[in-house]
Amino acid sequence: MWRVLGVACLHRSAVAFSSAAASSHRRGALAPLTPAVALRGVSVLVDRSSFRSTLSFLGVSVETSRINTLRKSLGAYALQHRRIKGVQPDRRDSGRRVLLLNVTEENLPAAARLAVRRAGGELQQVEVELTYDDLTATQVLQKLLPSGVDVPAGFEMAGHLVHLNLQPEQLPYKALIGQVLLDKLRPRVQTVVNKLHEIDSPFRVLPFEVIAGERRFDVEVQHGAATMRFDYSRVYWNSKLHSEHERLVSSFARGALVWDLFAGVGPFAVLAARRGVHVLANDLNPDCTTALLHNAKLNRVAPRIAVYNLDAADFVQRALNSILGEPPACSLSSVRLAYSCRSSDEAETLAVSASKMEARPPSHVIMNFPGDAIRFTAAFRRLKSEPARFRALQAPIVHCYTFSRCSTAQTQLDEANQLLLEHLGWVPEVEIREVRSVAPGKAMLCYSFALTSTAQSGQIK
Ligand SMILES: C[S@@+](CC[C@H](N)C(=O)[O-])C[C@H]1O[C@@H](n2cnc3c(N)ncnc32)[C@H](O)[C@@H]1O
Repeated sequence: MWRVLGVACLHRSAVAFSSAAASSHRRGALAPLTPAVALRGVSVLVDRSSFRSTLSFLGVSVETSRINTLRKSLGAYALQHRRIKGVQPDRRDSGRRVLLLNVTEENLPAAARLAVRRAGGELQQVEVELTYDDLTATQVLQKLLPSGVDVPAGFEMAGHLVHLNLQPEQLPYKALIGQVLLDKLRPRVQTVVNKLHEIDSPFRVLPFEVIAGERRFDVEVQHGAATMRFDYSRVYWNSKLHSEHERLVSSFARGALVWDLFAGVGPFAVLAARRGVHVLANDLNPDCTTALLHNAKLNRVAPRIAVYNLDAADFVQRALNSILGEPPACSLSSVRLAYSCRSSDEAETLAVSASKMEARPPSHVIMNFPGDAIRFTAAFRRLKSEPARFRALQAPIVHCYTFSRCSTAQTQLDEANQLLLEHLGWVPEVEIREVRSVAPGKAMLCYSFALTSTAQSGQIK
């Protein structure tokens, strides 16, 4: 906490600076009197008291009734500081307050001096003590990390958990960095983790180690209007995709049916269902589908989300079979996951609405598995080989995410056409949108294309 240490009176009322007192107090407006911290290079922080420092500010003491007028007339020179109140009590006179300024006495312009004089003000030097608690995480780490080791540029947050991607030179200080973040972000943050290496598992789960705080990974995240709960150590989650989730979902019409082939814990599905869209949501990771069932209930959208734990190619075959009215054994109903329900009536109601959704052709198909999704477009080749059976399908729009190192619109289009021809088996008219940059020279793209109408006119491989 900051604490006002004392004031040094320069002079009362008059603003003519000539005294010895004035010259002895000509300091920078934010100059620390006590340089803090002799801890640079430590790998664990044990002594927070050495962050105590004293700042000296020029202040103007006036009668309390005039403080607001003075603040207005000094405007730009009034101190704005995250942790220090711009108006302090005058410790020598309870009827007066002190307005702190952001300039030194020498730099106070003539017009400001006149305003001080008119208000009956008195210039003072005011010393304010700052402690560890007043500094931001960046300020603390700037003082602690040795030269050549940068303060981490940023982090991701998921509920009570902070996730860092530390650079090799930062690793010897990981415990220190974690501890400072925990100190500064408590009580909201309870756990700090660092990514160990690139994600290499098929379920895209982040490999991490805990560097500070509790080993607790059951996070609750506010995702736009939705609340999502999941185990961060067992599923894929990327808060940077939030605007993409919102963007895509906002293009769906109320009442439309969407297939979400790689649904994760349900960020697209739950947001869409909250807007009145119906969703068949699938993911191969059982921890994702368990969380998805839970999140659908939590957000009161279970009647609009049916959940499956299948390989995406299997899901598409069964979903197509369901539209054709084929037997349960080869369609979706036999593998649909059950919600935990309070009554058999509730279970029955959910099953009925899921069956109706399974029988309908989709308006949109989401394929958000950028490393591999394009390969799964092969699951739709049946639309081309059995056109008569899929007449009811009204050209659903596929939104297939992918990574690309192509930098121009033309090379991106050439690459898309080549990949779609190879996997889907024909070249639809594709719209390409850049979602975000994931690394230097590498972008996440979204290919959007209509399925059946182009299949009829498209070029077969
Ligand atoms: C990039 S994540 C996307 C999750 C979610 N849609 C989102 O936007 O956060 C890809 C998901 O695909 C799932 N997955 C991986 N292989 C799969 C497969 N063969 N079939 C279905 N899902 C799969 C992973 O478990 C993961 O949850």
